[in-house]
Amino acid sequence: MARVISVVNQKGGVGKTTTSVNVAAALSLLDQTVLLVDIDSQGNATSGLGFDPMTVHPSVYDVLTENASIDQAIINTGIERLDILPANVDLAGASVELVSADQREYRLRHALGLVEDRYDFIIIDCPPSLGVLTINGIVAGNEILIPVQAEYYALEGLGQLLRTIELTKEYLHPDLNILGAVLTMYDRRNKLSQAVFEDMYKHFPNTVFRTIIPRTVRLAEAPSYGKPIALYDPTGNGAKAYMKLAREMLIREAHINPREVLQQVAEETNTEIPKPDLNYDDPEEVRDAILESVQSTE
Ligand SMILES: Nc1ncnc2c1ncn2[C@@H]1O[C@H](COP(=O)(O)OP(=O)(O)O)[C@@H](O)[C@H]1O
Ligand SMILES: [Mg+2]
Repeated sequence: MARVISVVNQKGGVGKTTTSVNVAAALSLLDQTVLLVDIDSQGNATSGLGFDPMTVHPSVYDVLTENASIDQAIINTGIERLDILPANVDLAGASVELVSADQREYRLRHALGLVEDRYDFIIIDCPPSLGVLTINGIVAGNEILIPVQAEYYALEGLGQLLRTIELTKEYLHPDLNILGAVLTMYDRRNKLSQAVFEDMYKHFPNTVFRTIIPRTVRLAEAPSYGKPIALYDPTGNGAKAYMKLAREMLIREAHINPREVLQQVAEETNTEIPKPDLNYDDPEEVRDAILESVQSTE
């Protein structure tokens, strides 16, 4: 049975896709059979491995809307042991279509359930929001990996994210824990990067991965060649870091309760624990939606 890891942060540009693609490729090089799932309508993970999100068909969109089976949509990436469930730009419409759908939060989970025996790892690259697609991504996973960009506002928004994860755990999917947070785009010449690093390790010693992802131009270039860093620049620091992160993931277990980290973040940032904001208008409605969905599966 696969370990299913959702890579989540509602902030854009923090390294979710870079981490998803490169950790998936690194795990496959470490002899693991891996499925990378792209649920962002921008399709960056899809194009990062050489497929065109404008034309790829069928895609995760067709799976979520039940117009194709997951088997029809999964393709091999050309890299041994690494498959992808690609995203097509159509996915942008899925959030709207799914809002009124039955069991909408469980669509991805149910689909992945059909193939999880075939993989050691399933890595889900989530979009930069906390809408129904991200909830599908969180509900489909058992472990949450949070990329945190080594910059001044690193902790901003983390409370809201953890609150959403906690609610999801409470109401939709009890078997959900945090695997860890990984610092990305770390620049050792930058004092701010260093400060974020020290802060993170001081306040979240058990949550943060030992591995830090450095900022390197090569990591930013690789997607335009449709290749993971392990193939584009195998001996560089980016490839080494993602290989190290993959090794650390292999030996690490997801045992951190989101509530614990949430409490820490609230203390650290001196803020109240935020209410969930799932891109719907009314937080009560989100709660109701989550509860309603739980009731319908009982
Ligand atoms: N470690 C890194 N070094 C340099 N550039 C990076 C690194 N990680 C990500 N990037 C670049 O930063 C941008 C945002 O990263 P991305 O992984 O797409 O974030 P997200 O998926 O969270 O929106 C992309 O252009 C990507 O190539
Ligand atoms: Mg992305």
